[in-house]
Amino acid sequence: MSYVDGVTAAASEPVGADARKTLEQHAAALLRHTAEGTFPLASEVMAFGADHYTSPERFDAEKRRIFQRVPLVLAASCELPGAGAYKTLEVAGIPVLLVRDRHGKAHALLNACTHRGAAVASGCGSAGRFTCPYHGWTFAQDGALLGVASPADFGTVDKAMLAMKRFPVTERGGLIWAILDPASTLDPAAMLGGIDDLIAGFNLADWTMIESRTLHGPNWKLAFDAHLEFYHLPVLHRDTFGPERSNRAFYFAQGPHQRVIAPQGRPGTTVPDDLYALARLPAPGEPLDPLLMGEWILFPGTSINTFYIGGIRCVLVSIVVPGAEVGTSTTTQTFLAETPPDEESRAAMAKLCAFLAHVVGDEDLPTSAFQQKVMATGMIGEVRFGRNEGGLQHFHHWLDRVIAADSTELANLLAAPCRP
Ligand code: FES
Ligand SMILES: [Fe+2]
Repeated sequence: MSYVDGVTAAASEPVGADARKTLEQHAAALLRHTAEGTFPLASEVMAFGADHYTSPERFDAEKRRIFQRVPLVLAASCELPGAGAYKTLEVAGIPVLLVRDRHGKAHALLNACTHRGAAVASGCGSAGRFTCPYHGWTFAQDGALLGVASPADFGTVDKAMLAMKRFPVTERGGLIWAILDPASTLDPAAMLGGIDDLIAGFNLADWTMIESRTLHGPNWKLAFDAHLEFYHLPVLHRDTFGPERSNRAFYFAQGPHQRVIAPQGRPGTTVPDDLYALARLPAPGEPLDPLLMGEWILFPGTSINTFYIGGIRCVLVSIVVPGAEVGTSTTTQTFLAETPPDEESRAAMAKLCAFLAHVVGDEDLPTSAFQQKVMATGMIGEVRFGRNEGGLQHFHHWLDRVIAADSTELANLLAAPCRP
């Protein structure tokens, strides 16, 4: 099943020639480094102001200049599997309603009634229309105002002017992206810089949603920093991932986006995306999995990790967004499977989801919350990102770049694919 024209095209030819070339360049670099025993490092240690995590002014700039200007991944396409399917969420205090209309088009709306601002939907589900629970105004799946309750008593309004606020939205690479500014004239589809093409090989639009959960944490960057290096894996996660995990990572940039890849196969497992075990590039017609290995980082706060359960390829899509205040964030972990699982595989997936929630919720986020507390004291002026933490350096550089760019610069910056 595909939802939009772009996805239909991608489904029949999952990876275009340019994207495949880039993926093969990444893979060739990994194989070369492995053969030569080399490991690229950033040129220097980067010192970074701790106030980036605590300053309300910085938070306001990130909210306005990043989260309200950059296309954000808000859901996987398969989270809205049919007409009327909807999901609500909140990003930096902005309530959002995602809904698929009867034509298959996804809409991103401000989840606020145009009478007096109540939420018209909560949680997730399926609805032919939305009725505001406060006074009963009704809205269509595309946000149009359908009806005013007791219209004769209420008085005359121009219904055409009172549609819910609509955010620019696009659906590419099996993900729903939106710019959270109803006044934005930027085109989100033109600002993905090719990262959607690189992940097209997953064909995520056709996948099945298994489960989703939301974890709460400190400043969104502290929560997301933990996705951007593997330095901490064998230490913080020694009891879960194990102390034998490598603490190194290769980084490949695509504009502000990245891939983070461990320098060896996962210990004790043979998985179809293990390029190191294959030790060559996949030939045309062979499965693409080895070209897609690693953690995909979609700027600003989304990561995609691959797993194989009972022979089924799965991904965990983690979406980290700011809360309403500088020191709060949410991490939504959504687990997808390439094909609908049988009972046994579904049980194994549920177990893995619980494990991943434990790793992030009981190991990463409490650590980040403590960092937040310490930084809020003002007694630590700086933190440091090592030469082995190039992904963090890249991410924080790009945050500054995006904040500083005017609208035209921003559109150009994000549109331009950045080859490795
Ligand atoms: S606020 Fe929605 S009907 Fe009044
Ligand atoms: Fe972690």
